Amino acid sequence: MADSITITDNRTGESFEVPIVDGTVSAQQWSKHLPGIWFLDPALVTTAMSESSISYLDGEAGILRYRGYPIEQLAEKSTYLEVAYLLLNGELPTEDQLSSWVGEVTHHTFIHENVRKRFLEGFHYDAHPMGILVSAVAALSTFYLDAKEIFDPEARHRQIVRLIAKMPTLAAAAYRFSQGMPFVYPDNALSFPENFLSMMWKIAEPRYEADPRLIRAVDVLFILHADHEQNCSTTAMRVVGSAHSDPYSSAAAACAALYGPRHGGANEAVVKMLTEIGSMENVPDFVRSVKEGHGRLQGFGHRVYKNYDPRAKIIKNVAYDVFDVTGKNPLLDIALKLEEVALSDEYFISRKLYPNVDFYSGLIYQAMGFPVDMFPVLFAIPRMSGWLAHWQELLDQDAKIARPRQRYVGAELRDFVPIADR
Ligand code: CMC
Repeated sequence: MADSITITDNRTGESFEVPIVDGTVSAQQWSKHLPGIWFLDPALVTTAMSESSISYLDGEAGILRYRGYPIEQLAEKSTYLEVAYLLLNGELPTEDQLSSWVGEVTHHTFIHENVRKRFLEGFHYDAHPMGILVSAVAALSTFYLDAKEIFDPEARHRQIVRLIAKMPTLAAAAYRFSQGMPFVYPDNALSFPENFLSMMWKIAEPRYEADPRLIRAVDVLFILHADHEQNCSTTAMRVVGSAHSDPYSSAAAACAALYGPRHGGANEAVVKMLTEIGSMENVPDFVRSVKEGHGRLQGFGHRVYKNYDPRAKIIKNVAYDVFDVTGKNPLLDIALKLEEVALSDEYFISRKLYPNVDFYSGLIYQAMGFPVDMFPVLFAIPRMSGWLAHWQELLDQDAKIARPRQRYVGAELRDFVPIADR
C-alpha cells in the first residue's frame, strides 16, 4: 500500500495524492490543488511548523535526542556548554573547538554597566525577576548595533555568544536586585554553572565555592532544559525571527512566552500543590479530588509525551544528589507517594499521564534555595541555546515570514452609526 493520502474535492470530483513523509503531509500540495481553503488548526496542534534537525522527540516511546544523541547520555557525560555547541553546530566539538567556545562564552559574561545601573536598577524593588529578564534581554539589542546584521555570519555568531554568556549574569542580577543585594560581577575563572551560583549567592567571601555536586546538578538541569523542539517559547522565537527581527528582540519574545504559567511555571505549581497536600496521608484524598475534576495533578501529563518524560527520570536522580548536600526537601516523600498512587490508578494509566520534567525540578530548586519566582528564570538560562539554534536554522532555511490565516467569525458588513444614534 502506498504511503500517501488521496484527497477528493467533492465539489468538482477532482482527486489528488499527497505523499506521507516522516508522518507529515505537505500543505503546499493542498494549497496548489485547493487554493483559498485553509486548515483550521487552533494552537497549531496538528501542524508541523517547520523542518528541523535539532531535537527529536517521540512522545509515545518517551524519547528525546539532541542532534541524534540520547538525552540520557548527554546528561551523564556532557556539560551544558558542550550541549549548547552541539545544538548550534550540529556536531559535538573537538577539544580545541570546545575550549575556544568556552573561552568565547566566558569572555562575554559581563553586561554593560548601563544595563545594570540604568535598566536593572530602574525596576521597582519587588519586580518579578522573569519580568526583569524579559525586558533586559530586549534592551540588549540597543547596546549592540551589529545586532541587526543577522545575515553576516560573524555578527550573528557574536550575538549568539553574547546571549548565551549574559543570561546567567542577567538572571542572577535580577534575583539580587529583588532581594536588595549588591550585584556580583562574573568571575571568569569559574565554569558556567559555578559562575552562575557565585553570582547568585556570593556575599563577602573572596571567592564563592559551591559544592561540586550542586554545580554538576545545575549543569545537568541546564542540559535537560536546553531544547525541546517546537514548544511555545521556541515557536515565539521562530515567529518573531521570521520577521528578521534582531536576535535579542526575538529572544525577549521567547522569554515572554516562557514567563507564562502554562509553560515555564508548572514547577512552581507543583511545589504549591505538594505544600497544600501537606502530608503523605492526604495523598489518596487529593488524588480522588483530582479524579473528580477538582484541579489537575501538577507536573503530570504532557501534550507530546504519553509515556514517562525521559527528563523526569533523570531529574529524579539529580534530586537525590542535591538532597545529599542540602538535606531532603520535606516535600519529596509526598511527591514520591503521589507518583506511586497516580501510576497505579486507572484514571492516570488510561489517559497516559506520567510525571513530566516539572514534577521534581521545583523540589530541587527549592532545596538549593531558589525562590519560586526564579524557577522560570532558571529554565530560560539554558533554553537560550535552543532558541538560538532554532533561530539560526530558520534563517539558514530562508524561511518565509510566519503569517497564518484565520476563519473570520465576526459581524457581517454594516454601516457606521454616529455616536448619538447608538
Ligand atoms: N491531572 C489530571 N488529569 C489530567 C492531567 C493532570 N495533570 N493532565 C491531563 N489530564 C486529563 C484531562 O482532564 C483529560 O481528561 P478527559 O479526557 O477525561 O477530559 C485528559 O487527561 C487529556 O487532557 P488534555 O488537557 O486534553 O491534555 P493536553 O495535552 O491538552 O494537556 C498538559 C497537557 C501538560 C497541559 C496537561 O497534562 C496539564 O495540565 N498538566 C499539568 C500541568 C503541567 O504539569 N504542565 C507542565 C507540562 S511540561 C512543560 C514542558 O515540557 O515544558
